Amino acid sequence: MRKFKFLLVILLFFVNCIRAEDEEICDDNVGFRCSNGNFIDCLNKCDGHKDCEDGSDEISIHNITESPCKDQKCTNDNYRCNYGGCIPIMSKCDNNMFSCADNSDEWKYYCNIHPSNPEELKSCESGHFIPENKFCNGRIDCPYDQSDEQPFLCHLRDCSLRTHFRCKSGGCIPKYKICDSIIDCFDNSDEKECGTKEKVQDSTVPRQGCPIKKDSNYDIKHEMENYKINPGEWVSANTRIIIKCKNNFFFLGRNESQYRICKKYGAKYVWDQPLPDCIKYCDASILHNSKSTVAKCSFHGSMVPCDKIVPNTIAKVECANSYKIPQELGDFGSYEMTCTPQGNWNKRKINCQPICGRQESFYDAGASEAPWHVGVKTNLYEKCGGTIVSPRSVITALHCVQREDEEVLDHSKVFVIIAGDLKNGHTQIITVNVSEIFGGGQIDIAILKLSEILTLSNNIRPICNTESVYIVESKQAFLHGWPKDSNKFADVFHKTELQVLPRGNCGANLNGSYICVRPTFQLEKNETLCEGHSGSGIIVENDGVNYIIGILSFKPSRTKTCTNEPIVAVMFNQIPETLKTSIRGDRERMFELDANGVWYK
Ligand SMILES: *[C@@H]1O[C@H](CO)[C@@H](O)[C@H](O)[C@H]1NC(C)=O
Ligand SMILES: *[C@@H]1O[C@H](CO)[C@@H](O)[C@H](O)[C@H]1NC(C)=O
Ligand SMILES: *[C@@H]1O[C@H](CO)[C@@H](O)[C@H](O)[C@H]1NC(C)=O
Ligand SMILES: *[C@@H]1O[C@H](CO)[C@@H](O)[C@H](O)[C@H]1NC(C)=O
Ligand SMILES: *[C@@H]1O[C@H](CO)[C@@H](O)[C@H](O)[C@H]1NC(C)=O
Repeated sequence: MRKFKFLLVILLFFVNCIRAEDEEICDDNVGFRCSNGNFIDCLNKCDGHKDCEDGSDEISIHNITESPCKDQKCTNDNYRCNYGGCIPIMSKCDNNMFSCADNSDEWKYYCNIHPSNPEELKSCESGHFIPENKFCNGRIDCPYDQSDEQPFLCHLRDCSLRTHFRCKSGGCIPKYKICDSIIDCFDNSDEKECGTKEKVQDSTVPRQGCPIKKDSNYDIKHEMENYKINPGEWVSANTRIIIKCKNNFFFLGRNESQYRICKKYGAKYVWDQPLPDCIKYCDASILHNSKSTVAKCSFHGSMVPCDKIVPNTIAKVECANSYKIPQELGDFGSYEMTCTPQGNWNKRKINCQPICGRQESFYDAGASEAPWHVGVKTNLYEKCGGTIVSPRSVITALHCVQREDEEVLDHSKVFVIIAGDLKNGHTQIITVNVSEIFGGGQIDIAILKLSEILTLSNNIRPICNTESVYIVESKQAFLHGWPKDSNKFADVFHKTELQVLPRGNCGANLNGSYICVRPTFQLEKNETLCEGHSGSGIIVENDGVNYIIGILSFKPSRTKTCTNEPIVAVMFNQIPETLKTSIRGDRERMFELDANGVWYK
């Protein structure tokens, strides 16, 4: 009887032993069996702490690919170690190195989270971020350590052995790279024992010597014999080559020629140093030549300046303040362009369109209530109003930029005065030169082409125009301008409400190019229009957007400088076609063209 009981115990033990090893199931009655034969409580298995003397309750000691915890799931209040052990979540990244048996709870790989790209970028132990797919690829990519190839991390990762090879250190490389005379596993394990294995042979190219990549953009010469070697060819042992980059390509960092020697160790050929990369910068100028966009560049998730753009840099293009994505392009959250290995952008660069006729003064206390309105001054000390119709053009009255004999002034005698943004509590007054004046001939209208493209802001924006009859024939409007006797710039923003009257009120012969306006009658103040209002835009507001419908044409007269009588204004929609074309010509193209006028690809 006693003997039988003993046998049963042995039998039970045997069964448990097999189950513990094969299925990782721990029988609470017996416990977990360590590799050295001792038993520990099941609760202590895979808890991060090594309870077996040899640690085999956490990490297999014979085969790092194996862990009794490999398939273990952890509850929500636990953190899962790289090998599968579960530890209290509080212990994660708490600088106590001994919570997981492999210390993975303190690896920078898990603890350092990249602020903008946590999925694709992971941290080396040095703190440098590199792309996730560079971890466990056989090669050392971390700049100061080998933490991207550390065995505890890599051995437990998937590596489909049907198509791939696991380096001894744990990295995973495509199978065809075994025994190809190039070291792909940094521990050289892909090129060891090649004598006994069958070599993967390329049937056409003899694989002898050191290879030169086909797409390397090199100009290579044999140093001694001075003949050219083509990319894709092989270089025999003890040959020294001179590498230059082909036209328009260059080495990153330094430009002088580089030398390499092909060396033979036993059966394999290797370069004395890795071959350099020849790169081409992508054109940075297209990111900067428009005021309508701003670009931010990043390289592997880190922000970099948008100049000297190397391949794989991503440029994120956004509309600048007071610009919007052209309607035709739909609603982009953001627009990203990538610099390809050949030094070209993968997409054309978009430009944005000015936001017109909108005031920000309701939201931004410092913003102008008429950001489209400007002052126009000449060397004759004439002052008029004007309206920004595009970032390069201001519309005003022709007589404002004429001499008394009606000769149009030279453009150098005309200045546009703009109220810019607040700086130290004061509005900045910007004086902009005029580079060209287009007059309207018989009609009292002129377009001033500015010598610079305005930088738009909440205070500097063009007005909108419209063909909508409902708006164009509105009976109520307003304008801004310098009132009588004021030369102070602040007063240029004096607002006057207007009534639009039937044309006949301004004169029997007035034709369809004109409208007739008068200050709205207000009991408490006698509003008048003065010479200084000339050239100011007649504006109609509709649904929060402001449109120009006319340009005031108060020509100087000897008798009156101010009046509350009806005054003529030129209808914006009736200005000569040449002036309209000139304004339309300021519109930026939707996409950037290159120097030859060809679309960027
Ligand atoms: C380690 O374990 C893996 C998975 O069980 C197995 O494929 C491999 O052959 C083992 N390696 C050694 C050296 O025993
Ligand atoms: C290398 O040459 C290119 C093209 O001539 C030039 O743009 C680049 O600045 C040079 N780089 C260095 C580091 O001199
Ligand atoms: C504007 O023109 C004046 C000469 O009239 C010149 O001195 C000044 O530099 C010009 N300003 C700009 C910004 O071009
Ligand atoms: C109105 O008269 C002006 C000349 O004073 C002329 O240039 C313009 O074309 C006329 N407009 C219309 C709509 O007839
Ligand atoms: C309003 O101003 C005009 C022009 O200055 C003047 O002729 C008129 O008498 C004034 N009317 C009143 C009611 O003050």
